Amino acid sequence: MTDSLALAEFAYGLPKAELHLHLEGTLEPELKFELAARNGIELAEKTFEEVKATYNFTDLTSFLAVYYPAMQVLQTADDFHDLAWAYLLRAKEQGVVHAEMFFDPQAHTSRGVPFENVITGYHRAAVRAGDELGISAELILCFLRDFSAEDAAATLESALPYKDWIIGVGLDSDERDNPPSKFSEVFARARAEGFRLTMHCDIDQVGSIDNIRAVLTDIRVERIDHGTNIVEDPELVAIAKERGLGFTCCPVSNSFVTEQMKADEIVSLLRAGLRVMINSDDPAYFGAYVGDNYVALAEQAGLSETDLVQFAINSFEASWLTPEQKAAFVERVGEYAGSRGVALPV
Ligand code: ADE
Ligand code: ZN
Repeated sequence: MTDSLALAEFAYGLPKAELHLHLEGTLEPELKFELAARNGIELAEKTFEEVKATYNFTDLTSFLAVYYPAMQVLQTADDFHDLAWAYLLRAKEQGVVHAEMFFDPQAHTSRGVPFENVITGYHRAAVRAGDELGISAELILCFLRDFSAEDAAATLESALPYKDWIIGVGLDSDERDNPPSKFSEVFARARAEGFRLTMHCDIDQVGSIDNIRAVLTDIRVERIDHGTNIVEDPELVAIAKERGLGFTCCPVSNSFVTEQMKADEIVSLLRAGLRVMINSDDPAYFGAYVGDNYVALAEQAGLSETDLVQFAINSFEASWLTPEQKAAFVERVGEYAGSRGVALPV
C-alpha cells in the first residue's frame, strides 16, 4: 500500500463530525430524476451527463444559480426524508458519527411547499440516523441572506413550533450586498429562543473582513462557516482563538467558487491553534463528501495523519454536543489513532 492510500484509508475511517453540510446540496442527479418522476416534474436535463454539464461554477453566484432551480423536485415530506437519508448513508461511509446539517426552508416555502413538509421529512431522517446508523444528527435552519430580514423573521416564527427539532440557526446564500448586520435582530431573537448561532462568511467576498468582524463583535456567533479570510487580520485571529470559535472549512467547495482550495489559509489557521475543521458544503455539486475533503486537503497541503486527527478533534469540540458527548467522541478519535499507531496532536 502506498503512503497516500494509507492516508486516505485512515481519513475515511477517522470518526468525525460534519458541521457544514447543506442538505439541499446533497441532491445527486440520480435522486433528482427519481423525485422528478415521482412528482410528475419535467426536467430540462434528461441524462446524468446533461445535469453534470450544468455544473460549471466560477463563483458563489453561478453555483447558486444552478443550486436553487434543482430544488423544484423536492415537494413532500417523503422527498425531504429521502434526500437527507441518502446523505446520511453516504456520511456513514465517510466516517461521520455526528452531523449538524443545514437546511434552507425559504428555498421551499417561497415556491409554495409548506414548512411542515420540509421539517417533518428532515427530522424523520435525523431520528432514523440515530436509530439505524449510529449517527447523531441535528438540523440547523439557515436564513437566505438575499431575502429580506422580515422574511427571515417570519421563517423563524414558523420554526418555533418545531424548536425541539432544530438545534440552531445559520445564514447562507449570496453574501454580496447582504451583510450580517441585516440580520442582527433576527439572530438576537433566535438566541433568546435558545437556538445556537452560526453564519456563513464566504470566501473572498467584497467586504469579507468587515463581515467577519461584525459576526464576531456584533452578532457574536459560536461558529463561522468558511471564514478563512480572517487570516488577513491578526487581531481578529486573536479574538477567534481566545473564544475557541469554530471555522467550518470546505476545501473542495472553495476550489469551485474561487480558483483554489485555500489550503494555505486553512493550514495557517490550524497551525495558529484555531478550531478549524473540514466539511463538504454541497457534496453532490462539488463531487466530494467529507472524507474526500480530508483526503483532498491532505494531498494538496502535504498534511500528516496527526493533522487529520486534529481536524476530527476540532469537529467535535466546535459542535453543539454536550461537554460529555464531546469528550466521549474525542476519546473515540484517540482510540482510533492509537490503534493505527498515529501520534496524537500535542
Ligand atoms: N448555500 C449552499 N451552499 C452555500 C455556500 N457555500 N455559501 C452560501 N450559501 C450556500
Ligand atoms: Zn455553505
